[in-house]
Order: sequence, then structure tokens, then C-alpha cells
Amino acid sequence: MDGVKEIERREPLLGEDCIEEKYKEPTHGLHWIWLLHGTVIVTYSIFLSGVFLLNVNRSASCEKGRQSQSYLPLPSREGLQWEDRRFETNIVDNPFAGPPREELENAWHDLLKNDNIRVPIGYLDEKNLTTVYTKDHAEGIASLSIYHSLHCLKKIKRMMFKEHYYANKDETSMAREEKHADHCVEYIRESLMCQPDLSMVTFRWINNTAQHQDPAEFYPTNFDVDIHRCADWQHLDQWAGERAFDLFQVDLLDRPE
Ligand SMILES: *[C@@H]1O[C@H](CO)[C@@H](O)[C@H](O)[C@H]1NC(C)=O
Ligand SMILES: *[C@@H]1O[C@H](CO)[C@@H](O)[C@H](O)[C@H]1NC(C)=O
Repeated sequence: MDGVKEIERREPLLGEDCIEEKYKEPTHGLHWIWLLHGTVIVTYSIFLSGVFLLNVNRSASCEKGRQSQSYLPLPSREGLQWEDRRFETNIVDNPFAGPPREELENAWHDLLKNDNIRVPIGYLDEKNLTTVYTKDHAEGIASLSIYHSLHCLKKIKRMMFKEHYYANKDETSMAREEKHADHCVEYIRESLMCQPDLSMVTFRWINNTAQHQDPAEFYPTNFDVDIHRCADWQHLDQWAGERAFDLFQVDLLDRPE
């Protein structure tokens, strides 16, 4: 419960569409107009009623949109923190790149440590989503899609080193792993196409390329040097961390008998 309050106070990831409305100055300051312009009361009445009705309507529609947000410290794209940056794309001195080793395992493990989170049941109900629930049914367990994509990337990385990771698998379970990796390629493909990154990847003339036979010949080779519009991962991951649920704690869930 403390966790929920903490997030609501910070609410950095809440949708912010309605906040302005909420904190708008009251219109009491307009009252002096009535004294000053007694003679045009009728005109002003009509004007102010119009304004009043407009505000009521706006608040009502805002209230509707806020229904979930009021009990719902959930992320929205608008609530993310955005930054412009370049991609590192180096595979040297990169804990995520290279062959299996402790540093690599730790890096991927950390990346995925907040993959499962507790979500207020009202939010899930509103979206017609069913899932597994905590014993009191106040919350359901879910993952943000981005974490599923990252999990999938890890699966594919493992498939690149299957002699290391799957040395003891028999044929049947290996076939299952391969299907899982294939599903993961599909999932990441969908996700990339769903959220297209529109930075420009540009070219330079390079000889001695990996793809071409003649090492002396120059070919256009692409380089990612453009600036990307990126969500601040630390910010999002911290939010997820505050709601993280360890699926190994299955006894905390309302488990079928
Ligand atoms: C959820 O289901 C109800 C009943 O089938 C439907 O009226 C409503 O539009 C659905 N909501 C969403 C977000 O799909
Ligand atoms: C590639 O081009 C550079 C000059 O830009 C040259 O010095 C080098 O020898 C070339 N490498 C090969 C393998 O031809």
C-alpha cells in the first residue's frame, strides 16, 4: 500500500491531460466585474453562464478520462520522460554484447528484473483484461510489452549461443526453445513496426566490408549517427520497479485449488 501512495505522490508517469484543469485558479476574481459594471449585468450573466457551462462540460469529460487514473498510477506515453540521444551501438566493452559470461548474465538479468508488475484490478477490468490476481483480488499481475520484447531479445541472444545455454536439452525441448525464439522474433518485429523509430541511418563508403568479396572495393555501409527521440529508460524502469512482482512468489496469488 505504501508503494502505491509513493507512486501517486510522484506520479511522473500519469497521463497529464486533466491535471491543468484540476489546478486551475477558481474564477472568484471575476466578481468585482459585477460591481463595476452593474449596468451590464444581463450581458455578463449570459457570458459567465456560458463559461460556467463550458467548464462543467469539460470537467465532466475530464473526470470520465480520469476515472482510471485516479486509482491508477500507470504509465502513459505522455508521462514518460523523453530525451534526444545517440545510440551507442558498440559491441566492445558492452555488457549486453559478446559471448556468455557473468557480466552479460548480470546485465540481462538486471534489465528484466522489473518485468512483472502489480496492476490495480480496476484498470484491468476497464480494459477487459483478465490475468492472475493477488489473494485479495486488489491487483493483477502483468508485464509492460516493452519488457516482453526485452525478454524475447534475451531468448534470441541465448539461441545464438545454444551450445552454451541449451547443452543438456533433448530434441523435444530444443524444438520448443526454437519455436519460442521464433515467436520472439515475431514479437519484436511487431513491436518495432508498432512504434517506428524515424531517425535516419546514413551511409559512408567503406572498403574491407564483411558482406563483399573484394576487400579493396568501396561499398556504401550504414552508420547510425542520427539523434533518436528516446524514453528515459531509468525513469520507466524505476516506475516498474516500484510495482515489481516476483512470479516465484506464486503463493501470494489466488491460485486454483
Ligand atoms: C469491454 O467489454 C464490454 C462488454 O463486452 C464492452 O462494452 C466494452 O466496450 C469493452 N471495453 C473495452 C475497452 O474494450
Ligand atoms: C581501404 O581504403 C584505405 C584508404 O581509404 C586504404 O588505405 C586501405 O588499404 C584499404 N583497405 C583494403 C583492404 O583495401
